[in-house]
Amino acid sequence: MRQQVCLITGGCGFVGRHLVARLAARHRNLFIVDDLSTGQHPALWLRGYVRSQHSDLEVFTNGDTTIQFLKTDAIDFFWRELRGERILAADAVPEVYHLASIVGGRSVIDGDPLLVATDLAIDALFFRWAAKHRDRIGRILYASSSAAYPIGLQQSVGLEGSIALREDMISFQENIGKPDMTYGWSKLTGEYLATLAAERYGMKVACVRPFSGYGEDQDLSYPVPAIAYRAAGREMPLTVWGTGKQARDFVYIDDCIDAMLLTLEKVTDARGINIGSGRLTSFIEVAQMFARLEGYETPVKPLIDAPVGVQSRYCDPTLVHALGWRATTSLEDGFSKVLEMAHRRRAATAA
Ligand SMILES: NC(=O)c1ccc[n+]([C@@H]2O[C@H](COP(=O)([O-])OP(=O)(O)OC[C@H]3O[C@@H](n4cnc5c(N)ncnc54)[C@H](O)[C@@H]3O)[C@@H](O)[C@H]2O)c1
Repeated sequence: MRQQVCLITGGCGFVGRHLVARLAARHRNLFIVDDLSTGQHPALWLRGYVRSQHSDLEVFTNGDTTIQFLKTDAIDFFWRELRGERILAADAVPEVYHLASIVGGRSVIDGDPLLVATDLAIDALFFRWAAKHRDRIGRILYASSSAAYPIGLQQSVGLEGSIALREDMISFQENIGKPDMTYGWSKLTGEYLATLAAERYGMKVACVRPFSGYGEDQDLSYPVPAIAYRAAGREMPLTVWGTGKQARDFVYIDDCIDAMLLTLEKVTDARGINIGSGRLTSFIEVAQMFARLEGYETPVKPLIDAPVGVQSRYCDPTLVHALGWRATTSLEDGFSKVLEMAHRRRAATAA
């Protein structure tokens, strides 16, 4: 029988953990490559699996699904495979989800751009590996980002004058605008490599551009869980980075995964697809919403010296809607879940 395995790089990260949970219900064999630089070991989040060790591979099985986990740098993994080692022992790889990336939130993106530029190396090797193995790979999902959009389009403060980012505002046929730091450059370049993989190598590739994904188990270095954590402690005044007028398009993680899976199913030519609500929400509004959900009144205090990124980043969701996706979790419901988790995190720290 042909051995089939789906590969997920960066599968132990915030998005990866949610994705793996979904994929485990659809596939019998998954293979995760993650160096755990920011990710969490699968033993911490895979529930109901029995773990065993086979050389440097950890194997988790629940009777229905087997998940192999290799703790390694994706760069090493793809180099070793390119040099002829067969680490991913499978005749067919029906789906590949390439999420491994140094992300790290605004302080890393602005504070250590040459570290983040490592993403260029990860993606270059990934696509070279994919091209070499194209005969056994079915479909690829490349996790790009809204950071690939030109920052020049995202400088208006407030809704008035701001621009809903549309997929065709990135075009490899025309002049390319400057993306957001090395993180944005790597995603933009990754999308270009994805286009080459589709056009020149005949591969089926989908690129997604998530806006600000958030959820309960997101790291506290990201703004939504961080503000929730402070609100859960009834911080007064409640602080936000920058003026707080900078605004984003927030999308709940389950909705984000739905959109990723749908895009992989429906798009094969590597065109980028936005994943966002189309709604612009400022960080002041985020803080006010958490204070309201927590049930206390507080002024919101800007931390002017903190890094903020662009002023307004939100999407035109027309294309993802046309694929059949709608966000099903309102900001209110999603933030309530994050706040509940913030209380649990506080209780765990206090214990
Ligand atoms: N979360 C969002 O809202 C969002 C938005 C836009 C794009 N994305 C993209 O989605 C993907 C996942 O993002 P996330 O929010 O889960 O980030 P994350 O930091 O939680 O996950 C990234 C994972 O990649 C792993 N990793 C990093 N460098 C690696 C390397 N060299 N080798 C192997 N593993 C490595 C980390 O350990 C981590 O588990 C990323 O590509 C990111 O750019 C996410």
